[in-house]
Amino acid sequence: MITIEGVDAGYGRLQILFSVSMKARSGEITAILGPNGSGKSTLLKTIFGQTSVYNGSIKLDGVELSGRPPHEIARLGIAYLPQINNLFTDLTVRENLLMSGYMLSEEERRKRTEEVFQLFPFLRNMLHRKAASLSGGERQMLSIGMALMRRPKVIMLDEPTANLSPKMVNTVLDVVRRLRDDHGFTVLLAEQSVVKALRLSDHAVLLVGGRVLFEGDPSELLNNKELGRMYLGLGGG
Ligand SMILES: Nc1ncnc2c1ncn2[C@@H]1O[C@H](COP(=O)(O)OP(=O)(O)OP(=O)(O)O)[C@@H](O)[C@H]1O
Ligand SMILES: [Mg+2]
Repeated sequence: MITIEGVDAGYGRLQILFSVSMKARSGEITAILGPNGSGKSTLLKTIFGQTSVYNGSIKLDGVELSGRPPHEIARLGIAYLPQINNLFTDLTVRENLLMSGYMLSEEERRKRTEEVFQLFPFLRNMLHRKAASLSGGERQMLSIGMALMRRPKVIMLDEPTANLSPKMVNTVLDVVRRLRDDHGFTVLLAEQSVVKALRLSDHAVLLVGGRVLFEGDPSELLNNKELGRMYLGLGGG
């Protein structure tokens, strides 16, 4: 479980997050929602040790993460898929998977690659294609597969459905569902497909201007006309 308490954070001296507190329980999908520029990516980067934390604490199962460098946070079991540049486009699918498992023995790497293929069978037939030639949805699934090579406890996805067709959005979100249901991962999901994300998730956080305006049951946020209309583009009705 991830517990964030009273976090002030930003880039250098530019503060973006203000007194952010939230929880992400293990085995659950926690949706992080909010308008553009509200700090969703900054929050995920902050958990991953990529911003300056001025105050507060960020714990994974009781272990303090703030102050640690990203590679250590990764070793503690958190995988982070950034909004952009989350794979090596000049490399093939196979090379991308090998890169993300470089620290493993060959046997272990083969085993884990096999696990990735079980989740994404289509990758098996694309091993020698350059990642640049994959569709947006295929790329997202490859980068999720790459994250899984490390067998993390927590997987943080930053807008994995951005710029995808509605059908692909559903495919990728279905993968996210299976990460929880079939594999027991804890998922933090920053999303712009608000309604779909709320229907899928177990817990929701609304960030506005770097502050948490709501934390709780997704259906409560879905039915909160005021917050939904003002900040999430949900229809008036
Ligand atoms: N590296 C950076 N240096 C300085 N400011 C940044 C940096 N990255 C983001 N910001 C600023 O931090 C604020 C929050 O940005 P962030 O990317 O976290 O928002 P977001 O909620 O993820 O938005 P979006 O929905 O567009 O992805 C914005 O004002 C942005 O300009
Ligand atoms: Mg973002």
